[in-house]
Amino acid sequence: MSEHRIELTVNGHRHSASVEARTTLGEFLREGLGYTGTHLACEHGVCGACTVMVEGKAVRSCLMLAVQADNCAVTTVEGLADADGTLHPVQQAMRDNYGLQCGFCTPGVVITFAALSANGAKPSVAELEAAMSGHICRCTGYQGIRRAIRQIAGVAQPAGEHA
Ligand code: FES
Ligand code: FES
Repeated sequence: MSEHRIELTVNGHRHSASVEARTTLGEFLREGLGYTGTHLACEHGVCGACTVMVEGKAVRSCLMLAVQADNCAVTTVEGLADADGTLHPVQQAMRDNYGLQCGFCTPGVVITFAALSANGAKPSVAELEAAMSGHICRCTGYQGIRRAIRQIAGVAQPAGEHA
């Protein structure tokens, strides 16, 4: 089995490791580095649970090999909150609106929304909902997530909609 030496930054921490060529980034983050907030489910790029940011862009970590992340900056859900525990605005919106049930899909959803909101960008409800279409919530409880989307986009909740 061929092993490759890689170096990457995860949530601001530098890591170097030896990985097999076939190891996916998601597997490496979870099992190699212990960032278990990244969830692997379908491992076919369909469900979105494994989404992380690589160089600021949301990617499916089940479809990217760890060796492809050599020299890259990766952000997982563990890296979104401030050091003092202040939640990222996307995390706060999901929390405020009960946008998570079992929470399995949540890290991937949060990362996708955070990538769209990076650098002060203000994504629209339509953009966030389109991005959400790439994620499967097995609880099928999308209403809380849709309320969170409106909060992230800075749009008022429709009358009668309460978190
Ligand atoms: S585990 Fe990667 S998209 Fe489902
Ligand atoms: S919150 Fe349960 S899978 Fe989405």
